[in-house]
Amino acid sequence: MNIIEKITNKAKKINATIILPEANLDKRVYSAAKKLIKENLCKIIVFGEAADYDASFNSPNCRIINIKKYPQLSDYANQLYELRKNKGLTLKEAKKLVSAPDYFSMMLLKNGVADGVVAGACWTTANTLRPALQIIRTKPNKNIVTGAMLMIKENKTPLLFADISLIENPTSENLAEIAVSCADFYKKIVGTPKVAMLSYSTMGSANGEMVKKVQDAVKIAKESNYLIDGEMQVDSALDKVTAKRKGVKSGVGGNANVLVFPDLNSGNIGYKLVERLGGYTAIGSIMLNFNKPVNDLSRGCTVEEIINTVLITKLLI
Ligand SMILES: CC(C)(COP(=O)(O)OP(=O)(O)OC[C@H]1O[C@@H](n2cnc3c(N)ncnc32)[C@H](O)[C@@H]1OP(=O)(O)O)[C@@H](O)C(=O)NCCC(=O)NCCS
Repeated sequence: MNIIEKITNKAKKINATIILPEANLDKRVYSAAKKLIKENLCKIIVFGEAADYDASFNSPNCRIINIKKYPQLSDYANQLYELRKNKGLTLKEAKKLVSAPDYFSMMLLKNGVADGVVAGACWTTANTLRPALQIIRTKPNKNIVTGAMLMIKENKTPLLFADISLIENPTSENLAEIAVSCADFYKKIVGTPKVAMLSYSTMGSANGEMVKKVQDAVKIAKESNYLIDGEMQVDSALDKVTAKRKGVKSGVGGNANVLVFPDLNSGNIGYKLVERLGGYTAIGSIMLNFNKPVNDLSRGCTVEEIINTVLITKLLI
């Protein structure tokens, strides 16, 4: 069974409702929503009027909400105002924000009307995630939300890359938390994680501030029970001969399946190189550590990628 089949089978067993706030704004999200309903993969909430959708959306698997007519809208405005007033938000601004699909989705999620949100086919990552960071927040035992990408290719071990979408310049503590959060996710969805903390240096072959940041992260991350090692270059992480030659003694060298990048530039560029030149499919970004699952699509996403992201969102509940 390949990883997509594994994810689909697991997700089918979970009864959950996922909000697709862009279904009336983007043809790909519309098509994905239609398929999710038809194949009984998930219950969904979309926004707008019944007239915006074809007859297949008239299904027990789908709820269409007209935001402006939603009975709890003014209650949601008050809730958002209470949450953000100490950050300077006024009630008038809160009323305007909750009437928009991005903030409204998060209020529905916060209030338990749905179990997850998948958005970002038309919105930028920052616009998709800011309301989620403000309203949904991180899990109580976590300090940061991080964005990971599951990279898959036939007959190849699935790889998880992070952070590829959110944290511009993570500290050592952040990198260690990214490593452990990714290991948790990989273990839950794929199998035993082997985590490489990436750098331009392998095991002290170079010095400098950027290397030290990763070395310090490795020390912190090693306090977990996971197999985590570094700092190492990506060739040491993926190729056994190079790992041996460069002195990586742990089982991570040449076997890594979770790659933690030192910053957002390298993570974002890295996954796109593997996707475009290596022929891998990128699934995500999968946002780890939100209190309730919110996942961010790439604006270049396909219908299949949207469906896969919805299925993964169910697994994060
Ligand atoms: C998402 C992003 C806009 C958040 O920026 P921000 O300036 O912190 O936004 P806000 O101040 O409104 O943040 C909202 C809250 O979330 C918190 N937050 C920000 N990043 C967080 C993270 N990674 N984990 C947990 N909380 C976070 C902020 O501290 C803030 O908390 P507060 O309300 O208690 O002050 C910013 O991290 C960003 O632009 N990242 C890059 C995204 C991007 O463009 N990616 C492109 C690649 S796909």
